[in-house]
Amino acid sequence: MTARGQRWDPERYRRNAGFVAELGAPLIDLLAPRPGERVLDLGCGDGALTEKLVALGAVVVGVDSSAEQVAAARARGLEAHVADGQALAFAAEFDAVLSNAALHWMTRPDAVIDGVWRALEPGGRFVGEMGGAGNVERVKAALTAALARRGLDAAAVDPWYFPRPDDYAGRLAGRGFRVEEIALIDRPTPLPGRLGDWLETFAEPFLFQAPARERPGLVAEVEGALAGSLSDGEGGWFVDYVRLRFRAVKPA
Ligand code: BEZ
Repeated sequence: MTARGQRWDPERYRRNAGFVAELGAPLIDLLAPRPGERVLDLGCGDGALTEKLVALGAVVVGVDSSAEQVAAARARGLEAHVADGQALAFAAEFDAVLSNAALHWMTRPDAVIDGVWRALEPGGRFVGEMGGAGNVERVKAALTAALARRGLDAAAVDPWYFPRPDDYAGRLAGRGFRVEEIALIDRPTPLPGRLGDWLETFAEPFLFQAPARERPGLVAEVEGALAGSLSDGEGGWFVDYVRLRFRAVKPA
C-alpha cells in the first residue's frame, strides 16, 4: 500500500495501527481458510494478519508495495514480496485472496480485480475489507477545511478510494466474480493514541501539502475541529471508520 507521499514506518505502524490486524478477525472467519490452502494476502503490511492465516494452516504469500512493511513481514518468518496490487503477476496460483485495509489505497480498482481474478484458481474466493463510502468522512472534512485555510487543495492529493457496495459489486461482477456478500459496516474505532498520531500514520499525503514547519499546527487544528465529535473528552480518540466487507467467488 503506497500512495504518493505516504511512508510506512513499521515501528510507527505497530505503535499506532496494531488495531488494524486485530479487527481483521471477522475477515478471516469470512474466508474460513482450510489447512493447506494457498492464500494470497494482498496488502499484507507488516504481516500481523498474515501470521494468523499461517497459524490456521494456510500456505500464505503476502504482497505489499512498501519495502519496509515487507521487510517487517519477513522478519516474522513470512513469505512476503514487494508488489503493486494494481499489477499482480500471479497466474492461477491461489485458492483464495484476502485483503484487509489495503484496497482503499489502490485507486485503480479494476486493475486490482483483474489481477486477483488471474491469481485465483477457478472456484477461488476473494475476501476483502476496505474503507467504504463515508469512511473517515469527518476526518477528511476537517483536513480539507484546514488545508483550504492555507490555500491548499486536499482533493488534489487524496490517495483514498472508498466505494459504495453497488460500485464495487458491479466491478467484481463485471470481471466475472459471483458476489456472495457485500455490505457497509459502520465501525467507529478507538485509537491507541491521539488523532494526530493517526493522521501522521495514515494521512501523510494531506499533511505533506503543508511545509514541514506548519504541520504541527495543521494537526493541532484538525484535532481541535474534531475534539467535539471524535474524542471522548477524557483523552481518548476514535476514527469514524466505515468498512466495505465482501466475499466473491471466481466460478469453477
Ligand atoms: C481505513 O482503514 O479505512 C483507512 C486507513 C487509513 C486511511 C484511510 C482509511
